[in-house]
Amino acid sequence: MTVQPASAGEGQAAAGLPRVLVLATGGTIAGKADPRSAIGYDAGSATGQQLVEAVPGVDRLAHLQVEQISNIPSQDMNHKVWFRLVERINTAFARHEADAVVITHGTDTMEETAFFLDTVLHHEQPVILTGSMRPGSAISADGPANLYEAVKVAASPQARGRGVLVVLNDTIHAAHWVSKADSTALQTFVSRNAGPVGIVDPAAVRFYGPARVRLALPLPAGEQLPAVDVIYAHADMDGRQIDESVRAGVKGLVIAGMGDGNVSAPAMQALDRAVKAGLVIVRSSHVGDGFVNRNVEVDDDAHHFVASYDLNPQKARLLLQILLAGGVQDVAAVQQAFAFGY
Ligand code: DGL
Repeated sequence: MTVQPASAGEGQAAAGLPRVLVLATGGTIAGKADPRSAIGYDAGSATGQQLVEAVPGVDRLAHLQVEQISNIPSQDMNHKVWFRLVERINTAFARHEADAVVITHGTDTMEETAFFLDTVLHHEQPVILTGSMRPGSAISADGPANLYEAVKVAASPQARGRGVLVVLNDTIHAAHWVSKADSTALQTFVSRNAGPVGIVDPAAVRFYGPARVRLALPLPAGEQLPAVDVIYAHADMDGRQIDESVRAGVKGLVIAGMGDGNVSAPAMQALDRAVKAGLVIVRSSHVGDGFVNRNVEVDDDAHHFVASYDLNPQKARLLLQILLAGGVQDVAAVQQAFAFGY
């Protein structure tokens, strides 16, 4: 489906504009009110076409083509949709159908989709994710402005070569660092450790500095990702969940550790059993900021663990899945991938 400019005159304006392919996946930005409560709504209700048509002036930024990839709340986002997005984006750029891509998406897992795409897509063209914290039916809905700004960034020459970006609430985040930090606030996304990479102000799209060097890995074959569990660490923790994951046959474990990626002694013994069973173990942390480094409180060399550096647990899980899918399971090689760029 292509959004045609409103009038022939505006159609002329579209002639010299960049071509932006909008891929809609659902989320609150596509949400509609539900009478279950005064604030109730269902994410993934409106179509991508309806979203774009509700943004005045966006067709003066770019020539837009809208396609519906899925229409789901992003807590239901999954590898099948990710592989569909990769295939469509690779095809669009290979066939020169688009100069950039904007993906409308729920904010719950936007950071994961952004990180997965940033790792397996290797294009100069911008790929921008956006969404909203309020449904279109809400007072002061933020979706139309976010979509307008996402297209503005996608159409910006400075966005080229920066990998996958997230644009929300006037702020531009890189996929590697962005994470959702507030369950309801409009300014929900933060970029841990590094800060946003730019802003969208009324005058221009502004980037603060050069692009981060990105780790480019091959797309896993067969549209499958190996099972990797994330286990949340807490006080008085035993090894039960770890042992259960091993029995379930997962190929790797990511620990959402306390502090500097720590677990209790009983959980540590269970992790040693997991390593002996052939799993790759990554120590991440649920605290938010900072790096999880090797051999600080935990002797990673002795335990054959991987330290996640600055990747949060959900992104560490994705990187481990992509590495394992590519046959990389040697601890030193996995650690090199997590330390890439530092
Ligand atoms: N269900 C959540 C999602 O689709 C709503 C959050 C949002 O999109 O802002 O991610």
